[in-house]
Amino acid sequence: MEKPYVFITRKVPEETVKPLEDIATVHMWSSEEEPVPPDVLLEEAKHADALYTMLSERIDDSLLEQADNLKVIANLAVGYDNIDISAATKRGIAVCNTPDILSDTTADLTFSLLMATARRIVEAAQYIKNDQWKNWSPLLMAGTDIHHKTIGIVGMGRIGSAVAKRATGFDMEILYHNRSRKREVEDQLGATYASFDQLIQKSDYVVCLAPLTDETRDMFNQETFSKMKSSAIFINASRGQVVDETALYEALSNQVIAAAGLDVFREEPIASDHPLLGLDNVVALPHIGSASLETRYGMANLASRNIAAVLSGRTPEAIVND
Ligand code: DGY
Repeated sequence: MEKPYVFITRKVPEETVKPLEDIATVHMWSSEEEPVPPDVLLEEAKHADALYTMLSERIDDSLLEQADNLKVIANLAVGYDNIDISAATKRGIAVCNTPDILSDTTADLTFSLLMATARRIVEAAQYIKNDQWKNWSPLLMAGTDIHHKTIGIVGMGRIGSAVAKRATGFDMEILYHNRSRKREVEDQLGATYASFDQLIQKSDYVVCLAPLTDETRDMFNQETFSKMKSSAIFINASRGQVVDETALYEALSNQVIAAAGLDVFREEPIASDHPLLGLDNVVALPHIGSASLETRYGMANLASRNIAAVLSGRTPEAIVND
C-alpha cells in the first residue's frame, strides 16, 4: 500500500521529522525563512494526506475545497487563526496545534518584553553602543518600576496563568479578564477577575494574551487606549489583529499611554518603515514568543506526533476541532 504523503511548509529540524518518515512520504519546503508560495502550497495540498503548517500560511475554504485527500493539518503554533476551522471540520479534517509545551517559554518572553519596555533596556543598550554615554546622571534612562504595580492580563489561558505566576514574584497586584472566571489563578496566585473596562483603567501594565477571534479583533482601539492610565504600558504577545495599530501609534505619540512592547503585528513581517517602529517608546520583537531551542524542537516533535497519530487512526495529543 502506498504511504500517505505529508507536506511540511517550512524547513524544520530533520530529527523532529524522522518518526513521521517511518509511516509516510515526507516532503519539506526547502527554506527555513522563505514561506512556501501560495500556488505551490495549493498544488501540494491537492494531493497531501497531511499538511504541516506555520502560522504564516493561510489555510482557507478555497484551498481545503481542492484538498481531496487531506486528513490532518498540524500547525506549528498554539494559535490557529490562520486556519478556517469550520471549513476543515465540515470536511472531516483534523486540525492540530502545539499547546502547553510553549506556555512557560512564551510567558518568559512576555514578561521579558514587559521588563524591557518598562526599564528601557533596548534604548539603554543602544545608547551605550552608540557611544552616547558620557556621564552618570540621576535620571539617565530612568524607566518605570515593575514591582508592586498592577498587571492586567487579558486572556487568562495557559500562557496568561504562567505570566501571572511570574508577576507574583514581583509582588504585583494581578487583575485578569477572560471569557470565563479562572478560580485556580484566583486561589493559587491571588489574581482578581475584572471587567475589560475595569482592567484597562486600573492596570499599570496591560498585557494581551487573548487569542484572535471575532470578539477580540481590534479590541485595543482609540477608545480603549483613551481609558488607560497615561503611565500605562501596553504589551501584546498574542496576535497583531487585536490592535488597531493606527490608534496605538496615536496613543503612543500623544502620550495617551506611556509605552508599548510588541511581539506581534497586523502584518508580519512588519515593514521597517512602519510608524510604530520609529517611536522610542516602542520595543518591537519579531514574533518570538515561543522561540527557545528547547521549545521549538518540542513543538516540532509534537506537530510530527499529531500527524502520525491521525494517519495511524489514533487520537492526536492536541486537536482543536474534535
Ligand atoms: C503561537 O504558538 O501561536 C505563537 O504565536 C507562536 O510563537
